Amino acid sequence: MADDKRSCRICVTGAGGFVASWVVKLLLSRGYLVHGTVRDLGEEKTAHLKKLEGASDGLLLFKADLLDPASLRHAIAGCDGVLHLASPVPWDTDYVANPQIDLLEPAVNGTLNVLEACSEAKVKKVVYVSSTSAVMFNPNLPKSKVLDEDCWSDEEYCRSFEGWYCISKTAAERKVFEYGAREGLHVTTICPSLIFGPMLQPKMNASNKALFLILTGDYENKENIIRAFVDVRDVAEAVLLAYEKSEALERYICASYIMRLSDLVAKLKILYPGYNYPKSFIENGDDLKMNSEKLKKLGWNSRPFEETLSDTVKCFEECGITKREMV
Ligand SMILES: NC(=O)c1ccc[n+]([C@@H]2O[C@H](COP(=O)([O-])OP(=O)(O)OC[C@H]3O[C@@H](n4cnc5c(N)ncnc54)[C@H](OP(=O)(O)O)[C@@H]3O)[C@@H](O)[C@H]2O)c1
Repeated sequence: MADDKRSCRICVTGAGGFVASWVVKLLLSRGYLVHGTVRDLGEEKTAHLKKLEGASDGLLLFKADLLDPASLRHAIAGCDGVLHLASPVPWDTDYVANPQIDLLEPAVNGTLNVLEACSEAKVKKVVYVSSTSAVMFNPNLPKSKVLDEDCWSDEEYCRSFEGWYCISKTAAERKVFEYGAREGLHVTTICPSLIFGPMLQPKMNASNKALFLILTGDYENKENIIRAFVDVRDVAEAVLLAYEKSEALERYICASYIMRLSDLVAKLKILYPGYNYPKSFIENGDDLKMNSEKLKKLGWNSRPFEETLSDTVKCFEECGITKREMV
């Protein structure tokens, strides 16, 4: 294990989640000491973290909730940096029972609680994981525009289609920059697109579920949506890069590939022909252009999409995930 970072302590919020588990793994492999926050210290939520190489002497787990400032203060005390990933990610973005309680309060007030705990602990830098959901939903952006870090989703517009998750990420990310400027805290944000990849945690997560349903949904027809994708391991690298590069104090889009659903299915069929893919596609005329040039200038690279797809499907197969678990 690299021991150059042994004196550097980093807190990762929501450590047991899909993306954060890979962030913890990466930090441990680089020799950082990690404080991971989880809501539940039980084995089901933490065994995969305790099994990571270097965890026995490099990982401390703390029970913390985003709406419990004292628990956050306890976890963040003594840390040099905080990588803030905890945020509710709805299993079904089309239906959120109580948006204010289920999503907005933990995402926005919770993020403020994290930032306040960071100030109190004199943390040197905070990386907040936002989303391209906070970038791309704005009716005032010209359709032909290549979206960049100056683009922000319009919260009122998101409200019109009940895009509560988009609102939660946009509002929280804005608070991060406002707070950083006001309180003199070094902050940076990473905005990943839809994330696929092998899972370290034992249960399916919301974004991989989208891929699982493409493989197994057996749809007669599907809207031919266009989306940007990125590998979970490349997101973890981006988060750490944003932490380590002292010049990274802004916003970075983290998206590797843009593709229509029909093209994604064509790629998957070559790798894994035996699944129940959608049979036909309904064109919707949508377009999406964005890139991660700014992140690449920091030194970020991403792996081939085929590697992401095959590693993710292999993981589904090895975990024995069934369609019944998806409802
Ligand atoms: N996956 C994607 O496609 C994608 C794309 C862009 C951005 N992101 C962002 O990446 C981050 C991680 O997402 P993910 O895909 O890894 O989702 P995930 O597996 O659902 O992880 C979310 C984490 O947040 C924690 N959390 C939720 N509410 C909390 C609260 N009130 N207090 C403390 N912890 C709380 C969850 O803890 P429990 O395990 O206890 O529920 C979980 O560990 C999120 O900020 C998400 O918005 C994800």
